[in-house]
Amino acid sequence: MHDTFYYIANWKMNMHFHQAISFCSQEYEQLINLSQLPRKQIVLCPSFPVLFSATQLFKESRISIGAQNCSEHKAGAYTGEVSAQSLNQAGVRFCIVGHSERRTLFCESNEQIAQKVLRLYEQKIVPILCVGESIEAYQNDQTKTVIQEQVISILEKIALIQYSLFSPRLLIAYEPVWAIGTGTIPDTSHIKTVFSLIKELIHQANISLEATLLYGGSVNETNSSVLHSIPWMQGFLIGGASTDFQMFEKIVLSK
Ligand code: PGA
Repeated sequence: MHDTFYYIANWKMNMHFHQAISFCSQEYEQLINLSQLPRKQIVLCPSFPVLFSATQLFKESRISIGAQNCSEHKAGAYTGEVSAQSLNQAGVRFCIVGHSERRTLFCESNEQIAQKVLRLYEQKIVPILCVGESIEAYQNDQTKTVIQEQVISILEKIALIQYSLFSPRLLIAYEPVWAIGTGTIPDTSHIKTVFSLIKELIHQANISLEATLLYGGSVNETNSSVLHSIPWMQGFLIGGASTDFQMFEKIVLSK
């Protein structure tokens, strides 16, 4: 598990139903070949209507399907929401939570995101928690404060459920908001500093957690090798470049 490198394709709302289904079916053989490479885990995260078809298509393979969001509630009168239980029943094994687009455009709070993480654990779905500072926070040297708040709020919730779970898995994707979709990535030293902060926060929380650190924000086939070389780097959350199979393949093969 520890040396597995994750390639998580976050298709956002960039691909409509037909595009996502044809990506999965047209590139099926190549995706299967990529997924069979040692120590590589591919997770495709299409929008909700595609999830079930995708889990059926890749049922017998090493490709996993992830959702882009879930409800913080278990069930009930929440029109338009999708529960972690439904995701599990549809065959979903991973779920992105706290993406900066959800935090900013849909005003999701750290508390709501923490609740989503709990709902996912109840359904044995691995959360992919996104954290990251805005450009203003970055320029004002507030990165540490923002990351601390975002990570600690989740770790505190995980601490409460420790009695019922043995070493839950958490993928933490550091995604500086100013790097998403901009073509700009931070200095490797900045990413390394944030990674070591997150590791320290997990250590201080004194909980049993199998955490994996990822980076996201303008990952592409030209910067992936340098990103690979950052200590503790165990995967990428890839937006734009994951919607083009050739680019995605180059990223998976770069190392
Ligand atoms: P990007 O998006 O790769 O297009 O920058 C990453 C993300 O938002 O997860």
